[in-house]
Amino acid sequence: MASRVLILFAHPALHRSRINAALMEAVQGMEGVTFRDLYEEYPTLHVDVETEQELLLEHDVIVWQHPFYWYSAPALLKEWQDVVLEYGFAYGEGGTRLVGKRVLSALTTGGPEEAYQKTGYNRFTMRELLAPFAQTSFLCGMEYLEPFIIHGVRGLTAEQVQEWAQRYRARIAALVAGD
Ligand SMILES: Cc1cc2nc3c(=O)[nH]c(=O)nc-3n(C[C@H](O)[C@H](O)[C@H](O)COP(=O)(O)O)c2cc1C
Repeated sequence: MASRVLILFAHPALHRSRINAALMEAVQGMEGVTFRDLYEEYPTLHVDVETEQELLLEHDVIVWQHPFYWYSAPALLKEWQDVVLEYGFAYGEGGTRLVGKRVLSALTTGGPEEAYQKTGYNRFTMRELLAPFAQTSFLCGMEYLEPFIIHGVRGLTAEQVQEWAQRYRARIAALVAGD
């Protein structure tokens, strides 16, 4: 069965973005996909809880797309989590509205893949660093999918950027198809 996919995109400086801008372009207008640029929606960082909760209820898959900033997401995505994933809605007593949905982290890193190992300069794996995202999903009864990660983005050629953009489109298309 087809799934409805909500991409919540958080990039505070889109005009300077190379890779996320390309990923964004690749998924624009796809059937079954709602693309939401959070920094464009909320330039003052004041997230509309009701609107965001309604959007969550209308979709089956939530994608958190963002550049990796200080081993996490840009601040607005954290703010979105803090205010939208409310007690009684997303978790806690009566908080079952998101149960059964799926979550994909789609992110880009400046650091190369080998840096994200115990012996690398970042000392932790991506799965370890993404534990708050995985556990947040779990607590809300959502399945946290294998993250879509593009490492070492500064060194990518224009051709590689386009290849990644097409891979991202294919991953989103698979989610829409229910895979
Ligand atoms: C404030 C800030 C924090 C960053 N923190 C990290 C980090 O913790 N790990 C990392 O690998 N790259 C880090 N980077 C690099 C970004 O992840 C990288 O520039 C981004 O993924 C490129 O995407 P874009 O072309 O869409 O801007 C950081 C960049 C900025 C501006």
